[in-house]
Amino acid sequence: MDKKFKRTTVTSALPYANGPVHIGHLAGVYVPADIYVRYLRLKGEDVVFIGGSDEHGVPVTIRAKKEGCTPQDVVDRYHKIIKDSFQEFGISFDVYSRTTSQTHHKIASDFFRTIYDKNGFIEKTSDQYYDEEAKTFLADRYIVGECPRCHAQGAYGDQCEKCGSALSPEELINPVSKLSGAKPVLRSTKHWYLPLDKHEEWLRKWILEDHKEWRTNVYGQCKSWLDTGLQPRAVSRDLEWGIPVPVEGAEGKVLYVWFDAPIGYISNTKEMCENNPEKYGDWEKWWKDPETRLIHFIGKDNIVFHCIVFPAMLKAEGSFILPDNVPSNEFLNLEGDKISTSRNWAVWLNEYLVDFPGKQDTLRYVLTANAPETKDNDFTWKDFQTRNNSELVAIYGNFVNRALVLTQKYFDGKVPSLSQLADYDQETLKEFADVKAKLENLLDNFKFRDAQKEAMNLARIGNKYLAETEPWKLAKTDMERTASILHIGLQIAANLAIAFEPFLPFSSEKLRKMLNMQTFDWNQLGKIDLLKTGAELGKAELLFDKIEDDAIDAQMQRLANIKKENEKNNWQPEPVNGQSTIDDFAKLDIRVGTVLECQKVKKSDKLLQFKIEDGMGGRTILSGIAKSYPDPNELVGKQICFVANFPVRKMMGIDSQGMILSAVNSDGNLVVVSPSKKTANGVQVG
Ligand code: MF3
Ligand code: ZN
Repeated sequence: MDKKFKRTTVTSALPYANGPVHIGHLAGVYVPADIYVRYLRLKGEDVVFIGGSDEHGVPVTIRAKKEGCTPQDVVDRYHKIIKDSFQEFGISFDVYSRTTSQTHHKIASDFFRTIYDKNGFIEKTSDQYYDEEAKTFLADRYIVGECPRCHAQGAYGDQCEKCGSALSPEELINPVSKLSGAKPVLRSTKHWYLPLDKHEEWLRKWILEDHKEWRTNVYGQCKSWLDTGLQPRAVSRDLEWGIPVPVEGAEGKVLYVWFDAPIGYISNTKEMCENNPEKYGDWEKWWKDPETRLIHFIGKDNIVFHCIVFPAMLKAEGSFILPDNVPSNEFLNLEGDKISTSRNWAVWLNEYLVDFPGKQDTLRYVLTANAPETKDNDFTWKDFQTRNNSELVAIYGNFVNRALVLTQKYFDGKVPSLSQLADYDQETLKEFADVKAKLENLLDNFKFRDAQKEAMNLARIGNKYLAETEPWKLAKTDMERTASILHIGLQIAANLAIAFEPFLPFSSEKLRKMLNMQTFDWNQLGKIDLLKTGAELGKAELLFDKIEDDAIDAQMQRLANIKKENEKNNWQPEPVNGQSTIDDFAKLDIRVGTVLECQKVKKSDKLLQFKIEDGMGGRTILSGIAKSYPDPNELVGKQICFVANFPVRKMMGIDSQGMILSAVNSDGNLVVVSPSKKTANGVQVG
């Protein structure tokens, strides 16, 4: 670590507590942050890892309305689910709190007030859309209408997804509230704005000149924001759910969720310190001491908030340090499609663990191996299986298992002695001597994907070493040489336990127990005296197990079902093609009738037999809709429409005198067509 720093505060974006977390969250933010923190801890550095749930904002209130419960119920439920998932995946937060905590409400409120008292905000009254039915001002996303640019329907108040234009809600043609369907009206309302334009100059220098080392995606996005010119940003909203704006005359107004959420990092740090002052000391040193380095791990949709808005807030408040780096990832896709909560196109962490119990490290490994560090990346189940079976099992697991099992077999489970280094041993040792320096260089620069490759490379070295020296054969003739080989093999295994700890903490701990390692720290990496000759080893177990095809097939099937479901929901009418004339239509005699009887035709799984009162003495009609009406009785008494002038047709030995009209649903289900009002039987449809 840079000499000028004494300690590191690591934060990871606070996930919204309005749904569970999925692999995209894990890959983009939490696994990389956890790798980094575990690495620093293993090096003995002073570091804290701050997490928590983001519990305010409009989506929470919408979800509550939909489910008929309170916003607090929603966040209570998801906070717990999310917190448990993180814990199960070994994301080693020092604190995981929430933005509905009392500590946070006070800290965020004071933070606002400090800026307010310094005249750091501007106040503006403007007209905004209000939904008179739902009795609420509308967030941009909750207003839809026609795009003023491309005239597509369904454009949002902030953006048209058809043509990509950024919009403001007042520009929409025929705006409609998504909450109630009502036409929104403009109402005047006062808000507080953070004048980002006034912060532009120092932000430009601080980012574009002093932080050229930031990832290119982060630097690039900041540059493009700065080059467009910064505008004042509202930091309050008309909403009931949130932290009240602590100013007189601000009834019914709360802090904007993006104002309070990042302050949550600070509140959660304070809570952590107050709960354990011996371990963490005074909270302020983690946020106000220039010798503290602040690192934010986030996803790419959060860049502007963490690189521009939050730093401007910190600066305006005046007593805080600014982030030193903001490692942000791109997005992870799933089987080629964008992960989407609303379309259920995701692998949810809580569900993964039901299907793959105990396989946390496999998912961590695959997500890091495919981490979207520089570009969007794809998660596929096939790749998941291959990486597990041919890397974790076949290389790392296999090597460790061989070294341990052979030691049990030939040396009674005790570390055998090293007598003399052969040339091949020297070569092997040389190959892994610089693993520590290589790993550090990559980890210090947030290149977790390459770093994990380097750790796996060490396992490859070990695997190759045993494969080429074949101690199981030598054991028949040369016990001394066998001892030396296994001694070296075990030392490599011990190195692996350390090298992999940040990435795969569960298997690393297992390995550490199997090797009965007494000490465990980063500085031992690259050495071959980690295990003492004669030391007793623990019991050998498999580090990883193979994942069979049927487990993968089940996942693929699940995704295929979701896709089918989504396609059904996105069903679009077929375009009307071919032409017909009124004369064609006039040839059909369509009439209304009432169903008197309806039953299944014996030995047919398709046909229903109808007795219809048709105003002309009654008739029998057969219709192939039995699958859509498992209980034919539900049709009795209903009015239907039928074609009355088809020639009689015999089916299953019964004469059918016409055809009943049905609508065909996208899923193949048929729905009988009925007049919308009671009608005389026998009247014509035309
Ligand atoms: N909840 C936001 C999201 O999921 C992230 C908030 S990060 C914080 O996109 F800094 F505001 F906490
Ligand atoms: Zn458009």
